Amino acid sequence: MISATETALDLHEYLRMHETKDLLRFITCGSVDDGKSTLIGRLLHDSKLLFDDQLAALETDSQKHGTQNGQIDFALLVDGLAAEREQGITIDVAYRFFSTEKRKFIVADCPGHEQYTRNMATGASTADLAVVLVDARKGLLTQTRRHSYIVSLLGIRKVLLAVNKMDLMDYRREVFAAIKHDYRELAQQLGIAEVQCIPLSALNGDNVMTRSSAMDWYDGPSLLEHLENVDIDRAAQDVGFRLPVQWVNRPHQNFRGFAGPIVSGAVAVGDEVVALPSGRRSQVTAIVTADGELARAGEGQAVTLTLADEIDISRGDVICAGKQPAEVADQFAAHVLWMNDAPLLPGRPYWLKIGARMVSATVTEIKHKVDVNTQDHLAAKRLELNEVGYCNLNLDQPIPFEPYANNKALGAFILIDRQTNATVAAGTIDFALRRAANIHWHSLEIDRHARAATKGQAPLCLWFTGLSGSGKSTIANLVDRRLHALGYHSYILDGDNVRHGLNKDLGFTDEDRVENIRRVAEVAKLMTDAGLIVLVSFISPFRAERRMARELFAEGEFAEVFVDTPLEVCEQRDAKGLYAKARAGKIHNFTGIDSPYELPEHADFHLHNVDIAADALAQQLVDQVVARIGQHKR
Ligand code: ADX
Repeated sequence: MISATETALDLHEYLRMHETKDLLRFITCGSVDDGKSTLIGRLLHDSKLLFDDQLAALETDSQKHGTQNGQIDFALLVDGLAAEREQGITIDVAYRFFSTEKRKFIVADCPGHEQYTRNMATGASTADLAVVLVDARKGLLTQTRRHSYIVSLLGIRKVLLAVNKMDLMDYRREVFAAIKHDYRELAQQLGIAEVQCIPLSALNGDNVMTRSSAMDWYDGPSLLEHLENVDIDRAAQDVGFRLPVQWVNRPHQNFRGFAGPIVSGAVAVGDEVVALPSGRRSQVTAIVTADGELARAGEGQAVTLTLADEIDISRGDVICAGKQPAEVADQFAAHVLWMNDAPLLPGRPYWLKIGARMVSATVTEIKHKVDVNTQDHLAAKRLELNEVGYCNLNLDQPIPFEPYANNKALGAFILIDRQTNATVAAGTIDFALRRAANIHWHSLEIDRHARAATKGQAPLCLWFTGLSGSGKSTIANLVDRRLHALGYHSYILDGDNVRHGLNKDLGFTDEDRVENIRRVAEVAKLMTDAGLIVLVSFISPFRAERRMARELFAEGEFAEVFVDTPLEVCEQRDAKGLYAKARAGKIHNFTGIDSPYELPEHADFHLHNVDIAADALAQQLVDQVVARIGQHKR
């Protein structure tokens, strides 16, 4: 046993000793009942690297909370979070470190409950191996399938199947053989290449550290032996050099360095490199680290490179081996694991962060979602919390990437909500979709300004938003009439009307409304390109889509008009009788009743449509609009 003080004093020595050992990162998946915490606790305890004070605390805790009649309860050692003890479940990823003579280890302990799939994804993304626990009495369960699916999705190719609680099945060989058989079948379906099955009892320590005499029919390694000896073959893959640039270091005129971690491959002074997405090439002139210059550096090291040529490289670019560059694309097929309470809606823009780069992205299509318990493919229009979907993504600019299967660092991304800044999804790129690559933007000879100029106006999109019955269309019509009378060229896109044609296929679910707004925003954009003043009158209840619409237009060519009429007033007017129907439960997802309206925060025009007549509001608006675009009038 190493005491705490000794370890503290010799910390440097200790770290140095362990520095030379290789590192195995693994995750453990299983539920509370499988005895997972007991297993990890025993590994930590028996590898004799627990500090004395931790052990003392464990002994006292076991007296108080333990479920093992005052014996040391190893589960308590692992269940670090207070909440876990109270609820009796593991709720977050806990990382543990231990080492043996041969190797050092980082264990990510992932919870087994369905709602915590995302924690598992967090723990699994850097793991070399997964320890999947099953209870010998129960065999493979739905959650075993779920865990194994996520393990395979995250590119872990090695699984250690720990068949626990063999003591409760009298250490019978057939029990183990049957489970092993079932699991091999599952692993094959999932493409998990390497499976080692080990029968054990975490509680009694059988086959955990050393082989147990209780199961002399088993001639494989103990759990620890396997962890110590399993081949990590990271270097075996022939991957090119990749350095995602985290920052450009320019302390003075004569030095420009590109700093970041080497996520794969190696680089040497003199190597030819290519910067992506620009594709500019140069040679490495120096590799600088905190400890001085190196001739060569490899995966896992953080370095600063200087190059022979002054090429433009910025944060988020990737410097690659010249002969073996990564790919560049702006459309992908990817698996997306949704982690937010609000669903993923195709067409809604999210921030996509990959390495040090952040771009705007939308899911253009959910090809299918995957039932993580059975791996069945199901049709889906949205993804809910903890669901996995196979999706097409469209980015607003091309990025350097690699398929996740080839390079986890350049193939894994997260999605971030643009309103709340919360991380809402984790994803893995499968491959680039090349269809956009073959469609080129055709520059028109007569541009938007020329078109607008012949009409004697500047193009503008006036976007009316507000509840159903708030008076949007009434006011938009009055504005249109006045503009027309003044000789302007305008057009109205009205929700009710567009839904009779272009958007006939859409209803009122959140995802349909997102698509409704996306389409009409694109149409409005085309109309401003044609030089028109476009009046869009749609409820457009969500901030995210109003923002999306705004971002399609040039600065000053879009104005949001909030027709602010209280719900009570709209409901009282109820010109179409729809509120009455909604209240009676005859229409579902009705805005303001059982579907939200998100109030505009930065409307350019805020019309309080209660006491003032629509005509006066329209007049005010026209005056302001004309002041804005009127200077173009001949
Ligand atoms: S939006 O939310 O997708 O922007 P849009 O403006 O196209 O809605 O259509 C709204 C119009 O559809 C309303 O003015 C109303 O006449 C009609 N309507 C029918 N069902 C609903 C509903 N569930 N919620 C809101 N409006 C509805």
